[in-house]
Amino acid sequence: MELTADDARKSQDPICALPGRYYTDPDLYELEKDKIFAKTWQFAGHISQLSRKGAYFSFRIADEELFCVRGKDEEIRAFYNVCQHRAHQVVQGEGVARLLVCPYHAWSYELDGRLKKAPNDDKVPGFDRSKICLTEVRVEEFNGFIFVNLDPDAKPMDDWYPGAREELRAYVPNIDDLAPALWTHAEEDCNWKVSVENYSECYHCKLNHPTFATGVVKPETYNIMPQGHCLRHTTVSANLDRMTYPIDPNANEHAGDYGSWFLWPTISFQVYPGNVLNTYHWEPTGVDTVTAWRGWHTPHGDALDHITQLAQQDYDTTVVEDIRLVNSVQKGLKSRGYVPGPLVLDPEFGVNSEHSIRAIHDWVRKAMG
Ligand code: FES
Ligand SMILES: [Fe+2]
Repeated sequence: MELTADDARKSQDPICALPGRYYTDPDLYELEKDKIFAKTWQFAGHISQLSRKGAYFSFRIADEELFCVRGKDEEIRAFYNVCQHRAHQVVQGEGVARLLVCPYHAWSYELDGRLKKAPNDDKVPGFDRSKICLTEVRVEEFNGFIFVNLDPDAKPMDDWYPGAREELRAYVPNIDDLAPALWTHAEEDCNWKVSVENYSECYHCKLNHPTFATGVVKPETYNIMPQGHCLRHTTVSANLDRMTYPIDPNANEHAGDYGSWFLWPTISFQVYPGNVLNTYHWEPTGVDTVTAWRGWHTPHGDALDHITQLAQQDYDTTVVEDIRLVNSVQKGLKSRGYVPGPLVLDPEFGVNSEHSIRAIHDWVRKAMG
C-alpha cells in the first residue's frame, strides 16, 4: 500500500505524553484497580517475615486487604483478608498462629484457608464446612521477595520480566541471605504514575540531582531499556574509591557495578556497588497520593552503620529532591493549561531519552483499553 503525504506526516508526529486526566481522574483511578493492580504482579513482603509455620503478615494493594501465611506443609499462600462469614478481616498486622480465627464471631480457618469450625454450625442444616474456604490468590517468590497477582490467569513473573530474576541474582550473589534491615518512606502528593515515571527516567537528573553527576554513575553512559515489562537501568560506575563504604570491585563479577530492574507497575530492585540491594515500591493511597517506600537489605537484616548512613544520604538528596518535582507535576497535570508535550525519544537512547516513559505509557494505554 502506498503511503500518502498525510500518512508520512503522521508517522513523523512525535509521540506525546499521556493526557492529564490519567493522573487526576478518580474514575480512571478506580478503573486502574481492576485493569492494572488486579492484573499485575505486586510486591507483598519478604520471605524472612514467614520464617516459621503459621507466620503471617497482612498487606494492601490499592484498596484490597490481603495476607500471606506459611502453612503446616511449609507452603506460602496468600489470601484476601476477608472472612467468608460476614466479611470481617481475618488477621491484623503480623504474627504466628496455629489457626486463623476471625475476631468477629470466631470462625476458624486452617492455615491453608479451609474452614475448620464455625461456632454453632452443627445446628445449621446443610452447613457444609468443606465448601467454605478463604479466597486464595496467586503467589510467587522472586529471589526471597513475595509477590502476589490477583489474576488467576496471570503469566508467571519470568514471562513478564524476562531475565530479571537471574540478572539480579548475579548482581547480588548473597541475595538468599538478605532480609530488610531498614525502611524509609515518603508521602507524595501525586498520582502513583507520576512518581514511577520520575524514577524511570534520568532526563531530569543532571538539573535536579546535583550529586548525580559526581556520584557513582557516569551520566553519559546511563541508559534505561525495556526488557519485557521490566525497565532495566544500566550505567558504567565511577568514583568507587570515593564511596562512603569500602568496596572490593574484584570480590565477584558485579561487585563494582550499579544496576536497577523496575518491574511494572510498582517495584524496583536497585543494586549499588558492593552488591548493596535496595528497593523502591509505590503504594497508591488515592488518585493523587502515593507512599514511596525505600527498603535496604542486609545479611539477615542486620543493622549496618554504612547502610544506615547510605539510606539517610539517599533520603536527604534524591528522595527530597524528587518529592518537590513530583508534587509540582501533579499540580500541573490538573491545570487547564496543560497540553501534553512530545516525549524526547532519542533514536540512540541514553540518559536524555524518554523511551522508558513511552514504554510505561504504552503499558497504561494497553491495560486501560
Ligand atoms: S465475620 Fe468472621 S466470624 Fe463472622
Ligand atoms: Fe529523580
